[in-house]
Amino acid sequence: MIRIMDISIKINMTLLNITSYSFYITILKKKMEDLSNIRRDYSKFSLDKNSIKNDPFEQFDIWMQDALKGEFLEPTAVAVSTVSDGNRPSSRIVLLKSYDEKGFVFYTNYLSRKGNEIAKNPYGSMLFFWDKFERQIRIEGKIEKITKEESNNYFVKRPYTSRLGAWASEQSKPLKSRFTLIRKVAALMVKYPVDVPLPDFWGGYRLIPDEFEFWQGRESRLHDRFQYKLLNNKWDIERLMP
Ligand SMILES: Cc1cc2nc3c(=O)[nH]c(=O)nc-3n(C[C@H](O)[C@H](O)[C@H](O)COP(=O)(O)O)c2cc1C
Repeated sequence: MIRIMDISIKINMTLLNITSYSFYITILKKKMEDLSNIRRDYSKFSLDKNSIKNDPFEQFDIWMQDALKGEFLEPTAVAVSTVSDGNRPSSRIVLLKSYDEKGFVFYTNYLSRKGNEIAKNPYGSMLFFWDKFERQIRIEGKIEKITKEESNNYFVKRPYTSRLGAWASEQSKPLKSRFTLIRKVAALMVKYPVDVPLPDFWGGYRLIPDEFEFWQGRESRLHDRFQYKLLNNKWDIERLMP
């Protein structure tokens, strides 16, 4: 009698597992279908040879100023890609902190993964995307460290806790627990109660572009793309197929 009950419980449990598994698969499939059904037509703005600036830095400035007024949470967020010495690319978001005709500056830990990659292969790219404006900008070129003085000018403007954070974080290295990091910050508060010096391993990088691409979403996937390439110190502009 007990045996029969045991078997019946087992069968019921198996059926329950199969049912919940197939339910899970159905949900998953539905989610996947949902993704492939997401479709949006872009029609807000356009870009053409007559309106685009001859100087890509000017064109960048126009779009960045638009983004700054666009009520984005992080309008200056940019994906920076670097390549390892084994030719493996990697990307991460950083915040653009300044730009001018010399290039595009962000700040980080020089001993981080990106820092190590840049030290071995100085070529990198930046990618901005402002969804509300249906715009993307690609920038490619060489990445160089900015001067210590420039880094320091920025570092002193950072909040006290962020300056301590720069010291505390051995960025990209394994961390045993969050508590280890908090303890490090506490010790640093004692060491630097007021002035926090710029760490040697922290500072800015400048991407010096030799290529830009401005992408404006258009109707029916017939987007506008303009590529700028630096050839003999002059910017050559070409429209690209979408
Ligand atoms: C919105 C946002 C802004 C970020 N800004 C920076 C930044 O300015 N500098 C930085 O080093 N990391 C920044 N990070 C963290 C990086 O994405 C990344 O985790 C970190 O730099 C380590 O990257 P790595 O291990 O590839 O060197 C930001 C992340 C996000 C999501």
